[in-house]
Parts: sequence; structure tokens; C-alpha cells
Amino acid sequence: MQIPASSASATTSAASAVGGQPPVQLFAHARLLTMSGGSSGTAIDRRDSIAAADGRIVALGSEAELRRRFPEAQLNDLQGRLVTPGLIDCHTHIVHGGDRSAEMERRLAGESYENIARAGGGILSTAAATSRLTESELATTALPRVDALLADGVTTLEIKSGYGIELEVELRSLRAARQIGALRPVSVATTYLAAHVVPPQFPGGSEGYVERVCTHYLPAVAASGLADAVDAYCESIAFSVDQVARVFDRARGLGLPVKLHADQLSNMHAAALAARFRALSADHLEFTDDAGVAALAAAGTVAVLLPGAFHFLRQRQAPPVQALRRARVPMAIASDCNPGTSPLSSLLTAMNLAAVEFGLSTAECLAAVTREAARALGVLADRGSIEVGKSCDLAIWNVEQPAALVYSLGSRPLHESVWRGQRVAAAGRPLAVPPAA
Ligand code: NIG
Ligand code: FE
Repeated sequence: MQIPASSASATTSAASAVGGQPPVQLFAHARLLTMSGGSSGTAIDRRDSIAAADGRIVALGSEAELRRRFPEAQLNDLQGRLVTPGLIDCHTHIVHGGDRSAEMERRLAGESYENIARAGGGILSTAAATSRLTESELATTALPRVDALLADGVTTLEIKSGYGIELEVELRSLRAARQIGALRPVSVATTYLAAHVVPPQFPGGSEGYVERVCTHYLPAVAASGLADAVDAYCESIAFSVDQVARVFDRARGLGLPVKLHADQLSNMHAAALAARFRALSADHLEFTDDAGVAALAAAGTVAVLLPGAFHFLRQRQAPPVQALRRARVPMAIASDCNPGTSPLSSLLTAMNLAAVEFGLSTAECLAAVTREAARALGVLADRGSIEVGKSCDLAIWNVEQPAALVYSLGSRPLHESVWRGQRVAAAGRPLAVPPAA
């Protein structure tokens, strides 16, 4: 399922600059779901064509109108296909060593996730496997998972560190994440997951570790420029509200936005903590209460739902979707692709799980992997909808109805994607719409 990076540049080189202007690509004859702020969920736009130059959308309109405006444009006839913004997976731990299939067997035999973690398994076992890999091994072992997401129409991918624990392995993981953005046609947003697990035998335990993160690790990561945001895991088996607050204080002081693994296994009042620091997102939220929801709403923090982890951990308590909806908290959906709680590399499957298990509508699911996922990454001005001025990132689908993207499991409905104005073949398919001569 490899998507060569070169496929991304195969077509644009054919068009040449005219009069010093960048070449214009016309993506014509589409059924557009723009997902722009005003558009209501699954309504097809009255316009059917997109003009792009330099990787950005420069105009939307009818095919005839855009052909008149851009007579030299290279035409890509999308043959009436449904087109959405490129999908955005806003929460993954896709860079890591090893797998945890043996732990799955233990859990199936009745052991709890928390007990396995307390006994030195869980995140710590992935941390050991991660520390044994080089930067390029970390990048290349992640590629099959990345390619699976790309085959679902993903054009932006968030990647967290957090299995490195020690500063040097954390920086290595973040560099591997950035490498993935160079190896594949996808925009990568990196997150330093500063407090994920308390390392055993760390001098001073979790307090000592948080101190080290605040005084040494965070400044070093900020100086490296390798992280776009900072994350933490607030849970009884991980870090307390006070400890996370110290990490977030330091991160914000260094100019880095924050996000939080909040209330996944118990109500830690972590959603309110995220809101207090104006977090971009609070993620999981199975045990968040009404006060937490109200705090998210007031702060404009996005609720990121991770139904893959809910499913894999056989949780019973779903996040408070009805309360989030009522309070108008934006909801995103992500894969949480990780070896311990969500070995899931399909964003379409995550949408299906969010609909079936959490009760999201198909319109909410589509917004959750486009506009709201962009908001969760702080990139809404650049991505997440099909609008003039935004990056021309598109997913072109072989389905009739938008709901079909949520409905099926295991189908491969992607026809092609477009990343920064460049056509990218879907896995196993050639670029099927030949550029006009
Ligand atoms: O998002 N909760 C913390 N991080 C991951 C799982 C970590 C693991 O078990 O490896 C999550 O679920
Ligand atoms: Fe996670």
C-alpha cells in the first residue's frame, strides 16, 4: 500500500507558468461538499469547480465561468464525483516501535488496561521498543500505517511523540514525524506529548519527572522548533491535574499551544483543566461532566472524540455527545492510531464508530474530520474546508451520497486525493483522470 511521494508531483510539472503567473489547475465537474462555516453539513454546493494555483484555491465557480477566467488552466475532469476537503486526522501516536498484540490477549483474558500499565506494560513497553529504533527506522516503520490513512483521503496528519520519554528519544520521534511529511504527500503537525507515562526509577518519581520536563525538556523542544503543540495525559495512572497545569504553564510561556488527553478512564476534571489553558483540544472525554463541557464551550476548545480507543478498550461510557452538542462545543474525530489502545489506521472507520457508538450524525462526522479537525490543530485558516485562499487539499470519492463515507466498513471509496494542488493516486490505483493535453 505504498504511495510514492513522486506521484504527488507527477502532474503539475506538465503545466508551465504563463506570463510569469503560476500555472492554474482546474478541478472541474465535481459535486462539492465545501464544509465551509456557512454550509450545512452534507449539502452539495451550487458551484462545481475549483481553480488552484501554487497549491491554493484561487476561485470557486461553475466550470464555464472558471474556464473563461483561466483559459490556460490545466483541466482535471472529476466526472461528477463527490469531493470533500482532504481529511484531517488530528490525533495519532503513529510513530512508535513494536506492537502490543500480546497485551490484547491478556486483556481478552480479563486483565484491565490499567493493571497491565501498573505492572510495567502498556505505554512503558512501547517506550522500550521505541527507544531501540533510529530516527529513520521510526519513520519507515510508521509508513504502512500512514499509507493506510492516506488511502482514506487523509491530507493532514497530527503525530505525537510520547513513547520516547527521555528527551533524546522524544526529539528523535519528532524528527521522524517530520520525516514522514517529507516522504509522503501529507501535511504533518507535530505534538510533543510531554507527560505520557511516569518512568520507573526516575529520581523523584512523577514529581521529579514533571520538574525535569518543565526545566529542561520543554525549553529544549521549543528551541528545536520540532513541535507545533504540547500534550499531556491526565489520568490516575499517569499525571495529576496539578502536574499537567505546571507543564501547560511552561508550554504556554514558551509560546506553544496545548491539548490534553482528558477524562478517558475516569473524571479527573481534565476537560476544565484544558479549558483553563485555552487548549486547542481536549481529547477522549468519556468521563467529562457538565461542568467540563461548559468549560470547553466557554474556552472554544474542540472536543476530539476517539472511538477507536473506546472500542478497543471495550469501554461502556460514551463521551457526553448530547451535552457537547447542546453547548455547541465543536466535535472532531480522530483515529488515535497507537499500539496500546487504538491500533486503527482508518479515519473512515473512526467515523463509522463515532456514528454507531457515540451517535454522531453523518453531517457531524464529516465536519469532525475536516473543519473541526482543522480547528483542533489551529489550522482552520489554512485547511479544513474548500474555500478561496485555503490550501487545495481534496478527497475525491467514488460514492454517490456523503453518508456512504460513514456507512461502510472496509470499503475503499477514495478515487484520488489532491494535496496542495497536486493529484495523488489512491493506493493501488493509477491517477485515473488523465490531465488534458
Ligand atoms: O491516546 N492515553 C494515552 N495515550 C494513548 C494510549 C497509549 C498507550 O496505551 O500506548 C491514547 O489512548
Ligand atoms: Fe492518544
